Amino acid sequence: MIDLFDRLSRPLMRALDPEDAHALAIKALRYVPVSRRAADPSELAVRAFGLNFPNPVGLAAGFDKNAQVPDALLRLGFGFVEVGTVTPLPQAGNPRPRLFRLDSDEGVINRLGFNSEGATAALGRLAARGNEGGIVGVNIGANRDSVDRAGDYARLVESFAPVASYFTVNVSSPNTPGLRDLQQAKALDDLLARVLDAREQARRRSGPVPVLLKIAPDLALNDLDDAVGIARKHRVDGMIVGNTTIARPGSLRERDKAKEAGGLSGRPLFKLATRMLAETFVRAEGAFPLIGAGGIDSGPTAIAKIKAGATLVQLYTGLVFRGIGVVSEIKTDLLAALKRGHRNSLASMVGSDAADITAESWPS
Ligand SMILES: Cc1cc2nc3c(=O)[nH]c(=O)nc-3n(C[C@H](O)[C@H](O)[C@H](O)COP(=O)(O)O)c2cc1C
Repeated sequence: MIDLFDRLSRPLMRALDPEDAHALAIKALRYVPVSRRAADPSELAVRAFGLNFPNPVGLAAGFDKNAQVPDALLRLGFGFVEVGTVTPLPQAGNPRPRLFRLDSDEGVINRLGFNSEGATAALGRLAARGNEGGIVGVNIGANRDSVDRAGDYARLVESFAPVASYFTVNVSSPNTPGLRDLQQAKALDDLLARVLDAREQARRRSGPVPVLLKIAPDLALNDLDDAVGIARKHRVDGMIVGNTTIARPGSLRERDKAKEAGGLSGRPLFKLATRMLAETFVRAEGAFPLIGAGGIDSGPTAIAKIKAGATLVQLYTGLVFRGIGVVSEIKTDLLAALKRGHRNSLASMVGSDAADITAESWPS
């Protein structure tokens, strides 16, 4: 059924403006049957941040920004879904066009700029889920015009704590001017102090909700040293590596579209994001688990992320080019890899290639 839906819908979606295609996909997901999802094989289960993931394949932030369809996405086979980025107040984002498909590169450039219905709308939807179950993380960000950006994150943590399986502190989107400066040592130290303090405030009501930090793949390695050091000092529960890149690899074929401002995702991001993941893994020294994102569109790319240091993976752009069937394809390939290696869990594969990857020449 998923396969059929994919085959029928993909030519139509590709013919549409990318943003219209996305809006249509969200509408269509409302009609996913409310049947129980098939259970994943126990070998794919992952325990991380104190949560039990049925499988390690998650939907990355940005697809369901306003928490409209997390349960439909879980029923389609994702092991977890990250909604957001949610900002405290509604905001329109940048003017259209602001989303570009680089078809021959299997990449996307976006400069959406945190278009968000705001916290109240997303919170209402997540609260209405009740006890649906499933892991739904909430990715949080600051309003573009905020005068106290750290305060925005802290307030979102306090209000979403009762409904979030985990939080992602997104300081890595390239489309809100100055946002990525929050990755610099002093600003990051202050931000994490306030976020974790807010988590403490909410703890009595909501228990200890895990807090993850999502970074850009464009960080210089000395800034990565700082970011990982500060994350460790504050005992964050994990990191996501990472967001879209402002770099434009020389190999891109869609030269005109490559000139559009914004963050590049998908296949052309894979090498850089995987290198940064391995660099983060060697610096984290097992202090917390990592989620690998950037260019996953198949079983082999998901396995490469795990070997580079990812305990869990996330994808978004791979869905655009491969359709939802890519999720079950990845799960099948992960099971086959476990069988081949006579392993009964993915944990022993995590980071097995990280040292080798960090010794390679820097990806161009
Ligand atoms: C259209 C689009 C919108 C995105 N919006 C967000 C967002 O709101 N917050 C965020 O943290 N990441 C956002 N991302 C980044 C993704 O979550 C992911 O980190 C990145 O795209 C790399 O994964 P991919 O190559 O599988 O797409 C967005 C990506 C795309 C393509």
